[in-house]
Amino acid sequence: ESWDMGGHDTYMHKEIAEQADAVDRVLRGRIDDRFATVRLGGLNLDARAARGVRRVKILGCGSAYHAGLIGAQLIEELARIPADAEPASEFRYRNAVVDPDTLYIATSQSGETYDTLAAVQELKRKGAMVLGVVNVVGSAIARETDGGVYVHAGPEVCVVSTKCFTNTAVAFALLALHLGRIRDLSVADGRRIIEGLRKLPGQIEAILAEEERIAKLAAEFAEAKSMMFVGRVRGFPVAKEASLKLKEVSYIHAEAYPASELKHGPLALIEPAVPTVAIVPSDELLEKNRATLEEIKARSGRILAVAHEEQPKADDTIVVPRNEPELDPVLMGIPLQLLAYHTALALGRDIDKPRNLAKSVTVE
Ligand code: G6P
Repeated sequence: ESWDMGGHDTYMHKEIAEQADAVDRVLRGRIDDRFATVRLGGLNLDARAARGVRRVKILGCGSAYHAGLIGAQLIEELARIPADAEPASEFRYRNAVVDPDTLYIATSQSGETYDTLAAVQELKRKGAMVLGVVNVVGSAIARETDGGVYVHAGPEVCVVSTKCFTNTAVAFALLALHLGRIRDLSVADGRRIIEGLRKLPGQIEAILAEEERIAKLAAEFAEAKSMMFVGRVRGFPVAKEASLKLKEVSYIHAEAYPASELKHGPLALIEPAVPTVAIVPSDELLEKNRATLEEIKARSGRILAVAHEEQPKADDTIVVPRNEPELDPVLMGIPLQLLAYHTALALGRDIDKPRNLAKSVTVE
């Protein structure tokens, strides 16, 4: 590889460490304090068109799909437009109904993933409006879409995505804020989100400073037979991405479930050799999440909580700084990237090039 490793042993570690700078880049030059919104020069969607959007559908694969799940929640919360995300590969094969009032958004780090590109081409052929949230400038998806938001994470070399995932979530927050301010988001709420966005880089640094402790926890998790990741609503995409990250680099089997669904089946898997990572922000769902921790504890499951305050029912808590609730998913995934990294390191895995995986899948 010709990219500079900057003193890190792996690109994954380097890219995790670069996240505060990367988030700073996706924000730079875009915040408009006067109107409590953001300027997105490449969006190509005027206010009238933005007001006409009745639904948003986000398409992507792998970590990009998970960032899209966060994006869909941000768009619903801030812009109050019904939104969801779907794997691009599923979408393109199910002969979906293409609706003229839906804004389609394709998201991809590389901009070259074949399934996502094929979904874009099919949508364009049917006359849909398609935007891109893409990292690589001038890539195929960036060229085929009508406009969009560049993620500005910089080059990502490790096969598993870290800084690009985080930056994509932030890019969606910008898009959601922009759409929100064209529709019903108040100036006060716009300001609140902008302040939250500005806090992110410093808060990311604070999370990364916990690495040593996370590495010690990872040494224990390296012994796990399987792992469960749970979260509710904003926490669920975080759980999905953390579970994928662990699988990809450590090869430990992991499942992600909405915490509320545990009792409908997966609770049967909980035992001492199957630890749980729970996303527990101090938001309106805190009590519900605490009840889930109790259910797991009652089955002798080991629990690691990622939370805003110590969780007494958890065996360990990684405390992350508080931000605006809508932005919690951006921060809560970061310690779990380090957890996946150190678990893989403890197991001696080939971290930057996990077996059977490719950085971008450009074939069907
Ligand atoms: C591959 C990679 C994943 C990535 C996915 C989508 O499967 O191994 O890490 O998330 O492709 O890639 P994209 O470039 O479209 O974000």
